[in-house]
Amino acid sequence: MGNLIAKIVSTGAYLPEKILSNKDLESMVDTSDEWITTRTGIKTRHIAESTQSTSDLGVLAAKKALERSGLKKEEIQAIIVATITPDMLFPSTACFIQKKLGLMHIPCMDISAACTGYIYALILASQLIKSNAFKNILVIAAEKMSAITDWQDRSTCVRFGDGAGAAVVSSQRGDMEIGEFFIGADARFTDILNIPAGGSFCPATEDTVKKRLHYIKMTGQEVFKNAVRYMYESAEKVLKKSGLRVEEIDCLLPHQANIRIISAVAKRLNIKEENIYLNVQKCGNMSAASSSVGLDSILSEKKDVKNILMVAFGAGLTYGALILKRINREK
Ligand code: ACO
Repeated sequence: MGNLIAKIVSTGAYLPEKILSNKDLESMVDTSDEWITTRTGIKTRHIAESTQSTSDLGVLAAKKALERSGLKKEEIQAIIVATITPDMLFPSTACFIQKKLGLMHIPCMDISAACTGYIYALILASQLIKSNAFKNILVIAAEKMSAITDWQDRSTCVRFGDGAGAAVVSSQRGDMEIGEFFIGADARFTDILNIPAGGSFCPATEDTVKKRLHYIKMTGQEVFKNAVRYMYESAEKVLKKSGLRVEEIDCLLPHQANIRIISAVAKRLNIKEENIYLNVQKCGNMSAASSSVGLDSILSEKKDVKNILMVAFGAGLTYGALILKRINREK
């Protein structure tokens, strides 16, 4: 176990071409650009084609990450996918991605931690790398939120978007160490954000479909309160664990649920506005994919970034934070 370091070698992202604006939503539900902008910060979101499934989005992001890694695809030894919009309840979306990438006979698994999924997945991958069980793992967070969004419910449909991001995690290469982490869950709040039907608890029937129980249901105010609390606490805990001062964080990558939650967390952490990464305005809330798409932009655009603090919360409620640290290339 000893001295192995898990590092991000490369990343990739994919956003569907079709863009849905607040103006477009005004013609679909009783809402306004003004309401959406002030409450969420969102202006546009990307929407996948009806023919595209989550694995298709994930594959397009993964291909970019693989290409940039310089590794042969045969060198990838496992696939971990964070998603709450799997292609099917089973098999796992990771299996569909394996097939589409032509990466046969390697373990494939999905992680269901909602918007915290990418942090959970990167941590799992890093621990598998550090234990020397695997040398190179493909980690993906992909979501087709449009497939589980109720396009008649104005309180939720204005928030979400589709997208995917991927990373190759390795002990062999890379200069971005997956460092200290903190993850948890508070299952007292399983009721405030979920999809009630379609699972074993409430299997699909004509009645559940009529009642639109296969779409996201959310108690917004409860989500808001807990999001701020748990994101702040997770960030504080991981900073303490790492020994880094908040001034040493040159990029905060928060889950992109809405701008008000992000501002409240950043203010409590005392992080400067210019050090906060945002894609919520253009992409909406892509659940686990918000962080994976965000990390790809940061690593592609801000080449000099040293310490990234990722922090998220999601249905469950799950929460967590992770530090990524630039290390010397030769390590
Ligand atoms: N357009 C216009 N009006 C709307 C819309 C909309 N799209 N959606 C809801 N409203 C209405 C409601 O019907 C309600 O109207 P009513 O008072 O007549 O019943 C009113 O707006 C409530 O809005 P506010 O007065 O702004 O209420 P509040 O300030 O308490 O905010 C809100 C509620 C916006 C839901 C807030 O709690 C919130 O943003 N929560 C966080 C939810 C979130 O970001 N979830 C992310 C998804 S989950 C995740 O990422 C893990």
